[in-house]
Amino acid sequence: MTNLDPDLIQTIVVLGATSAIAKAFIRQCCNAQTKFVLVGRDEEALDAIKSDLIIRKARSIETIVADLADCFRAKETVQAVMARCSRVDLLFISYGILGDNAEALKDNVLTQEIITSNFTSVACLLSEFTPIFEKQKTGSIAVITSVAGDRGRQSNYIYGSAKGGLALFLQGLRHYLSKYGVHVLTIKPGFVDTPMTSAFKKGLLWASPEKIARGIRHALLKKKSSVYLPGFWKWIMIIIKLVPESIFHKTKL
Ligand SMILES: NC(=O)c1ccc[n+]([C@@H]2O[C@H](COP(=O)([O-])OP(=O)(O)OC[C@H]3O[C@@H](n4cnc5c(N)ncnc54)[C@H](OP(=O)(O)O)[C@@H]3O)[C@@H](O)[C@H]2O)c1
Repeated sequence: MTNLDPDLIQTIVVLGATSAIAKAFIRQCCNAQTKFVLVGRDEEALDAIKSDLIIRKARSIETIVADLADCFRAKETVQAVMARCSRVDLLFISYGILGDNAEALKDNVLTQEIITSNFTSVACLLSEFTPIFEKQKTGSIAVITSVAGDRGRQSNYIYGSAKGGLALFLQGLRHYLSKYGVHVLTIKPGFVDTPMTSAFKKGLLWASPEKIARGIRHALLKKKSSVYLPGFWKWIMIIIKLVPESIFHKTKL
């Protein structure tokens, strides 16, 4: 089965459906053949997405309210998803928090929160979904990490390390699930104009959630393993990774 094929009935499960990137992606995937199971912690925001998808004539829309960072509830959340669909054609994970690196250095609870939200809980949810995909022997898993995970930087290395850890986890999961015919996509966006980055000054390197969503759909259709979005971030990160530590330490990145 080709995911996102407009001629096939398909189920898309989104963990973190209220994120700006997820909302753009969901809208772009919506057609009369698509069934959605949308998970987020904000019931009102989920209801608003559902109303929009009804107008856009989605085949069906189920919503689940859950705190996705609660690792102890990962099994329960995945059971709730599977109670609403018989098969998952695409699992899209898009939740996360940026956190404040400087504040986290004063309070390790914040460090824990950043690592748990961006890495540990995602790993727990993926581990719950893995046997389901093994059994299905088909489908795709697409997870948003970040360019921040490619090199540790003084300004956000807690978030960056969680995203970098997640990228490594996904690399291993892709290897593991390849023998079952399951596709795993690692998504590495650069700067995206969303509520997460509302406090940042925007410039030339910034992209819209809609542009990122188009890139994710394209990477899924092409069955890519990993994608930088927009694509020019691949070249920026090659250069950033090549800078020797002695020079890197002189920067304020
Ligand atoms: N924006 C960027 O520049 C950028 C760059 C690289 C990667 N990313 C990644 O892209 C993904 C999507 O973020 P975004 O840019 O679209 O920002 P966003 O609109 O702020 O989305 C973040 C989403 O995560 C949800 N979330 C956080 N913790 C959660 C929890 N415990 N349970 C359920 N939902 C939770 C938030 O829900 P609430 O609305 O309820 O808080 C929000 O919907 C994230 O993984 C982010 O790290 C973003």
